[in-house]
Amino acid sequence: MAGCRRCLSIRLSGPEKEFSDDDWMGDMTPTPLTAQQLAALDDVLRGMSAVQLAWTSGYLAGRLSQGTSIGETPTGTSDIVAAQKAPLILFGSQTGNAKGIATKLQTALAAAGITANVSDMASYKQASLKSEQTVIIITATYGEGEPPEGAELFHKWLMGKRAPELKGLNFAVLGLGDSSYEFFNKTAQDFDSRFEALGATRLLDRVELDVDYKSGADAWIADIVAKLKAQTPSVSQVSQHAVATASTVSSVWTKENPFTAELLVNQKITGRRSQKDVRHIEISLDGSGLTYKPGDALGIWFSNDASLVQEVLELTGADANATVQTLRGAGTISDALTHDFELTQAYPGFITKVAELTSDERYVALTNDKATLRSAVTDCQIADILRANPVALTADQLAAALRPLQPRLYSIASSQTDLPDEVHTTVAVVRYAVDGAEREGGASGFLGSRCEPGDTVRVYIEPNDHFRLPIDPETPVIMIGPGTGIAPFRAFLQERDVIEAKGKSWLFFGNPHFTEDFLYQVELQDYLSRGILTHLSVAFSRDQPQKVYVQDKLRKNGAELYRWIQDGAHIYICGDGQRMAKDVHAVLLDIVSEQAGLDPDGAEVLLDDLRASGRYQRDVY
Ligand SMILES: Cc1cc2nc3c(=O)[nH]c(=O)nc-3n(C[C@H](O)[C@H](O)[C@H](O)COP(=O)(O)OP(=O)(O)OC[C@H]3O[C@@H](n4cnc5c(N)ncnc54)[C@H](O)[C@@H]3O)c2cc1C
Ligand SMILES: Cc1cc2nc3c(=O)[nH]c(=O)nc-3n(C[C@H](O)[C@H](O)[C@H](O)COP(=O)(O)O)c2cc1C
Repeated sequence: MAGCRRCLSIRLSGPEKEFSDDDWMGDMTPTPLTAQQLAALDDVLRGMSAVQLAWTSGYLAGRLSQGTSIGETPTGTSDIVAAQKAPLILFGSQTGNAKGIATKLQTALAAAGITANVSDMASYKQASLKSEQTVIIITATYGEGEPPEGAELFHKWLMGKRAPELKGLNFAVLGLGDSSYEFFNKTAQDFDSRFEALGATRLLDRVELDVDYKSGADAWIADIVAKLKAQTPSVSQVSQHAVATASTVSSVWTKENPFTAELLVNQKITGRRSQKDVRHIEISLDGSGLTYKPGDALGIWFSNDASLVQEVLELTGADANATVQTLRGAGTISDALTHDFELTQAYPGFITKVAELTSDERYVALTNDKATLRSAVTDCQIADILRANPVALTADQLAAALRPLQPRLYSIASSQTDLPDEVHTTVAVVRYAVDGAEREGGASGFLGSRCEPGDTVRVYIEPNDHFRLPIDPETPVIMIGPGTGIAPFRAFLQERDVIEAKGKSWLFFGNPHFTEDFLYQVELQDYLSRGILTHLSVAFSRDQPQKVYVQDKLRKNGAELYRWIQDGAHIYICGDGQRMAKDVHAVLLDIVSEQAGLDPDGAEVLLDDLRASGRYQRDVY
């Protein structure tokens, strides 16, 4: 593809240092313990996690500080200690927010002397739930009120007939959502009511947070810690070591502290007559130390368009130079509208806040019922709400009604094994009109229309362990990625090219027209000719009278696809979660049902099993 820069292939991985028993022994100081005591201690400690070790260390310190030797029982605590099981923090997360809070809660509990286990719902053994004593659920919501991808099976099992009675179990639920979606925090609500229905006891009322969840999450963590501390005997303070260990896991460059990178390439990869504007973006990671794997996403912070900022100022009459407070501190409202507040996504909270601050009749009327409120924020931006319902706002009122700007995620379309210092993405620029006003998506408009090579963008890596190539390069892969869903599969193919993977691979790609919308056509044909990609099935929906989609291509190849599945193939879906992923899933169910001679329930179980074993993975948005 013209304009794409390719580097020499360099393997990143080097020999890893194992932390062996010898390393432990080398550091040890002379001991007062007998050889048997030392061996027994070694037996107990072997296999403990860092947090368990830290807790044990704190426990021993606590026992010492109470002046008791280990043979004695410190009054009033040990019976309870023996009977108590560590609380379990169970998270359902797709883009890392819930996972981040889970880790933060674990650290806060450790600092309070409480060891908690943390598990992703994706890897949690369902059968263990009935033997838990305290479960803290932290979950996001996706799609139309659906659980995050990795939490689907746990959610389905818990909601189903086979869920156990949970009498004696204590629970609390934190929901992360986005109030611009209709089914705000639906998954958290599901879990909360189901735990109660199964007989569990609520420790705290459910808390539902919006996109600006940080301070709410901190307050909730403090409440949970206080609740659990009141219930748990004070055995010890965990040493500082535990906190330090937990906090050194993350990279220097994070969502909160992004890397300022140079944009190298911004190339339109759809044709002149295409109805879509899709960009191939290349960004330099040189000097960042950031690492990523195929399947991960790139987080991008953006700024709002100057003309949109101006429009909002004019519509409200707010003084552009007035000082307001943002999460970054004090600054002009003009600067805050550019860098700190969401203008391109509308959400109900804007209208309710303006109604509350101004008592303006129009805004109050919009808040009268849920349906009216929802329809006022659907498919439009903040400026469109203000145009339809003119209201004067001061800079402070405007700042109070807007929510903090959030970065957007883009599937990474490159392999770092091939390109150590770069990251690529495939971005569809969101463009539409509202009552004659041309609108652009915040981040995609920023990248597509306003960023040029040489400009800087603030980025971070969002890992996605639920979308990974098989460990064995011989394993066949089936990749279903129409539209920008192709992005991670470009990364997969680059990676498999460099590591000379021998497994078969089959890509299903679709878009409206062959001549205008065949993203990465030249590269894909090259992969095909070199056998990196062994099968390519394309569906150009509008090139013939009857619409053809990737799911039609899947159906047509049902028998062979099923043979691939029997050969151990991993199936991946990426792209539109509203319709495509659902339609593709339905066709996959039909295929396995027909080919394996299963009824619909049996086909569902088969796909669930594939999912549970990591052989059916989806990254949909
Ligand atoms: C894990 C993940 C991976 C992703 N990967 C990719 C990727 O590889 N490539 C990619 O392009 N995107 C990807 N996305 C989507 C991406 O993150 C953004 O959501 C997308 O680019 C839109 O963001 P924006 O800031 O441009 O638009 P926003 O400012 O967020 O505006 C979007 C809003 O505009 C409104 N809108 C959109 N279209 C219309 C319309 N036609 N009419 C009226 N209103 C409309 C809707 O209200 C919509 O919610 C991914 C998302 C996730 C979560
Ligand atoms: C594609 C997509 C769909 C979403 N759908 C919903 C939804 O239906 N309801 C909701 O409350 N939040 C929805 N959200 C918001 C997420 O739940 C929210 O961003 C959350 O903080 C993500 O947490 P995670 O990073 O742990 O996955 C959606 C987000 C995305 C990207």
